[in-house]
Parts: sequence; C-alpha cells; structure tokens
Amino acid sequence: MTVYGFDSSNGLAARIARLLGDRYVAMETKTFPDGEEYLRVPEKPEGAAIVVASTYSPQEKRLMKLLMAVEALSQWGAPIVVAVPYLAYARQDKRFLEGEPISVRIVLSSLEALGVDALVVVDVHQPHAVEEWFKQPWRNVIPYREVARYFRDVLRDPLVLAPDRGAVERARLVAGELGAPYDFLVKERDRVTGEVRVKPKELSVEGRDVVIVDDIISTGGTMALAAKNSLEAGARHVYAACTHAVMVKGALDRLLSSGIEEVVATDTVPSPVSKITVAPSLAEAVREILGEIA
Ligand code: R5P
Repeated sequence: MTVYGFDSSNGLAARIARLLGDRYVAMETKTFPDGEEYLRVPEKPEGAAIVVASTYSPQEKRLMKLLMAVEALSQWGAPIVVAVPYLAYARQDKRFLEGEPISVRIVLSSLEALGVDALVVVDVHQPHAVEEWFKQPWRNVIPYREVARYFRDVLRDPLVLAPDRGAVERARLVAGELGAPYDFLVKERDRVTGEVRVKPKELSVEGRDVVIVDDIISTGGTMALAAKNSLEAGARHVYAACTHAVMVKGALDRLLSSGIEEVVATDTVPSPVSKITVAPSLAEAVREILGEIA
C-alpha cells in the first residue's frame, strides 16, 4: 500500500503510514495565481492507495484537493481508500428548510463517483448521512477510548455529560471506559428573563469533575454554556473534550473564560488543544476495511 497525505495533515497521515508499515508520499500541490488548485501524485501507488485528507478550513480548497487526488489516482486502477479525519459539510445532512442543499451528499457522492472504494471517517456528525449517500464500505471511528485514556488519571468522581440527547452515545462510550456515570444536558428557558440554561436530565454535578464530550467545538458556545451552568450547579471542575477542534476565532478564550479547566481534542483538526491522536484507530480501521475490499 501507499499512504498519501497533504501538508495540512500535521503528521497524522505519516503516522498512519508508519502504523500500517507502508510508504508515505506527500501530494504535490500549489495554488495558481488565480486561486485555482494544482495537484500531482508524485509516485504511483504500490498496491492500494490510501489518501488521508482532513477537510477543515478552508474546506472547499481541501475538498477540491481531495477530489483531485482521487481522480488522479484513478488512472492506475489501484483500490482507493479515503480516510477523512474531519469531514466538512457533514452538518448540512438534510434540507432543514425548503430550497437548501444536502451538502454532505455532494461530498460523499463525488467521492463515490470518482471511484473511491472505501471510506473511513472520524466521528462524523450524522453517520446515517454516510449510510445514505456513500454506497461502498465505510467505517466511522469514534475515539472514545483515546478520550477516556486522556482523562483516566485526571478526574475525581467523574461525570460524563453530552451537550444534548443526540450526543449521548459518545458520552456513554467515554463513561463506560472511565467506569463513570453519564447523562445529557437539557435546555430550560427562564420565562421571565428569557435566559437559556442547561442542566443534566437526571444526575447532579455537585462536587464532581464533569467532562462534557461533543463531536465538534466551533464557536465554543455550546460548551461554554454547559460549563458555566455546571460550575454554578456545584461541579468541582469542568473539562471539555471534543473530536474535532474546529475552533473558530475566539473559541478558546470563550471556553476558558467560562471556567473550563482544560479543553482537549483529537488531532483530526490541528489546533492548540488537539492533544490526542486518532492515528492508531484510523490505521486499524483502514486495515480492516482493506481486508473487506480485497
Ligand atoms: C451540534 O450539533 C454539534 O454537535 C456541536 O454541538 C456544535 O457544532 C458546537 O458548536 P459551537 O461550538 O459553535 O457551540
């Protein structure tokens, strides 16, 4: 196999290549003066081609480079596995309003149409979207063991919280590894002031070390509110953990100002808080899926 990556991978692609015991090749890319992208695969694949490409901001540029890489690789007829640590546009997975596109469909259908034989994603926002729009074998890696390992020796009397009911499965998995209870947050609006507060559905945070686990931190608003309300309700410390540290400008300041002790993310999106690597889990998923398409 040959593992291909981009300089935006920050070592993740090369790490995966090392774990798989395969050759790492960096894609040749440049931007033309008019802003269009150029790409060349500098070495043909030996066996299957594994393309590792995270599609964080600027999303369109990174998506285009990924599609160009797949199209270029298709000239050799080797099996193509694409590993996307962060899948852009995954949050627009349905038509929330009439007239909107299903953006994730465009990404997934394009990959499939260009000849991708298998796909590995990490903690994709709505796995059903991949199920629906990508008909080849695929895996969704949830890095719950890695997140739990990071916190194992840090917490006293932990409680794992999901920011909403939809995110509770991730919290359950992390809590299971930690041997801790878990719950999800529900919103309440003060009828007089209109202020929105969140609190756990069943459990109390009082005196506990709370870890709030989500897929994405973008503006940090969701985590900051959860942390502020948990601390007001008597939590000892609040930690924020996410898979994808999208972290738009000002997010980290907002999180730390809300009283969060530490913000931790995986390395699917590079950031100052991306301290946990998903390389071993991604490499394992790639190995498994290659066995399936062989
Ligand atoms: C929402 O559905 C996601 O799971 C995250 O909770 C959300 O993207 C976080 O965004 P922000 O950091 O802007 O509150």
